[in-house]
Amino acid sequence: MEAMSTNETTAKNDMMQHHRITKAVIPAAGMGTRFLPVTKSIPKEMLPIIDKPVLQFVVEEAIASGIKDILIITGRGKQAIENHFDFNPELEYFLERSGKETLIEHVRALAEKCQFFYVRQNEPLGLGDAIKHAQPHVGNEPFAVLLGDTIIEPHVNNPPGLQQLIDIYQQKQASVVSVHRVPDDWIQRYGIVEGKAESEVSPDLLRLHRLIEKPQPPATSSNLAIAGRYILTPAIFDCLARVESGFGNELQLTDAMNLLVQKEAVYAFAWQAKRYDIGDSVEYTKCFIEYALRRPETAQIVREHMQQLLNESPEVV
Ligand code: G1P
Repeated sequence: MEAMSTNETTAKNDMMQHHRITKAVIPAAGMGTRFLPVTKSIPKEMLPIIDKPVLQFVVEEAIASGIKDILIITGRGKQAIENHFDFNPELEYFLERSGKETLIEHVRALAEKCQFFYVRQNEPLGLGDAIKHAQPHVGNEPFAVLLGDTIIEPHVNNPPGLQQLIDIYQQKQASVVSVHRVPDDWIQRYGIVEGKAESEVSPDLLRLHRLIEKPQPPATSSNLAIAGRYILTPAIFDCLARVESGFGNELQLTDAMNLLVQKEAVYAFAWQAKRYDIGDSVEYTKCFIEYALRRPETAQIVREHMQQLLNESPEVV
């Protein structure tokens, strides 16, 4: 193989540089009605898994995937989110004075690692509308989207969820969305994708030809559900401008992506990662218990307590 000239190498590096994913958008403006009454004053994204809000898991995944610029789409009553990711000098001073300096790193770590920006969605008009609000910030660059109510845990030894999508974007230079196979009776709860595996070598990577938001049977035979992480090219904004309200009378990102597949290649990656959809109280509870059973400080005690509960009143538990 012929070696590249310095100019060619520089041009290639420039191109890769130009197409690097540096910005992430986290929609967190939903009303959280499934979690009322707690969501009257606490954003659902701030519900804790023991002592860490769900949204912090999402932000940490973005940072671990190399993102340094995060735009959070918020709305009415979501001030707790801004406060959480900001510095809090009074609290730090208090911790220092009371000999709890070790806790300081927990309260300031993220604000040092990345820059946070906020934009408010004035009305809850859907995920598509939320992403439209990101256009002035992301401009003409590809960007990542992480749903603020979904925790993704990669399979052992795999990179963080978003990093896996960024790697595919680097190869394909095209939009890519993560999907999971779901049972038939869950199909109506998600955005569903239809596509074809590009090759036998990578059967988990599909080129898409149709996406449908919360399809009613028998609208699709696919069971591949969009799982909360996306890399999108800026062409999505034209598509968002062209779609009308869809499922639930909301502007759906899935509908805009369904237009995008007609303009350019869009991929889905059926990953091995584990996903917790915290917008659902059962999933939230499962996630909480799993973390409690995994954390060294709580694991043993919680396990014993659960065993005791099951022994005492198996019919209740
Ligand atoms: C949104 C998307 C849907 C996706 C889901 C993942 O739906 O519209 O396509 O499958 O997130 O959690 P929502 O959960 O907001 O109804």
